[in-house]
Amino acid sequence: MDGPSDPLSPEITPEETFLNRRFFLKAGIWAGSTLATAGLYQTFKPAPAVKNTGREIGTVAEPPLPGAIAVGETPNRFEDIAGYNNFYEFSTNKSAVASRAQSLQTTPWTLQVGGLVEHPLSLSLEDILGFEAVQRIYRFRCVEGWSMVIPWVGFPLAKLLSLAVPTDQATHVAFESYYDRQQMPHSLFAGIAFPYLEGLRLDEALHPLTLMATGLYGKTLPNQNGAPVRLVVPWKYGFKSIKSVVKITLTDHQPTTTWNRANAREYGFYSNVNPTVNHPRWSQAYERRIGETDLRPTLMFNGYADQVAHLYTGMNLRQNF
Ligand code: MTE
Repeated sequence: MDGPSDPLSPEITPEETFLNRRFFLKAGIWAGSTLATAGLYQTFKPAPAVKNTGREIGTVAEPPLPGAIAVGETPNRFEDIAGYNNFYEFSTNKSAVASRAQSLQTTPWTLQVGGLVEHPLSLSLEDILGFEAVQRIYRFRCVEGWSMVIPWVGFPLAKLLSLAVPTDQATHVAFESYYDRQQMPHSLFAGIAFPYLEGLRLDEALHPLTLMATGLYGKTLPNQNGAPVRLVVPWKYGFKSIKSVVKITLTDHQPTTTWNRANAREYGFYSNVNPTVNHPRWSQAYERRIGETDLRPTLMFNGYADQVAHLYTGMNLRQNF
């Protein structure tokens, strides 16, 4: 990742037919739009044409969960969410991922849950899509300085882990992406090692906001967004949200993660969104919402502080970045 990147399109056109407008109160006016980081951004590029070809996923209503719906926010257009992607297995060019990722074979699929668990699981695609799905509308903040609001569909990771039953020794959860060089020939030029790896502390993994996403905008996930199932941790930088997951392993130690291994000085294990701790090469105080021109101030824990700050009580967040 080379630094903040360019947004795609200056206007926002949410999929009004799908979304329940009740959730979207008028967005507040944000200050600081022309501040320091503006110069880091390039000009707009047109969004590539991307169609929503997924299968419908029905969702069930869930008990009120603070943070589950980003109140006052307007979701990004499907075209932006599915046309501007980081998926290094396919390309390091955000606009090229969508077409290249069409080579990803998602059937059959197996997701294994193992390690320090009482009941190891081996789930098929049908099993994964069979979990009762809920809709979550989350802010998504990339470490590079752009952000989106995404209407995900999925199920809480806690649900899956409760089926596997972590043992008393388990303290962390390691995630691994699918990797097949044949389907991903451009991965050789990505500059990072594969398979892509991520990790969470067990309490982070069990947090009710931590989602295994199987869709967005009410349909199954486009390949470029991490089909058929990917992690979404809304209070952390986007690279923690590992795509196309095939393996989840409960461990008794902090697992290796791709970006930390690639550059430990720049990417910590925690990677909580924190406007007061800058990336060594750029400020994290502001972000550019894809589809907008002005910068917005970045919020502590990406706006989820009320829900997650207690997980980090007593920790030095400058050291544990
Ligand atoms: N997962 C895998 N397997 N490979 C990747 O390159 N990129 C990460 C994350 N998950 C990545 C990944 C980064 S850097 C970001 S910002 C988000 O996916 C982007 O998700 P999106 O394309 O759905 O917006």
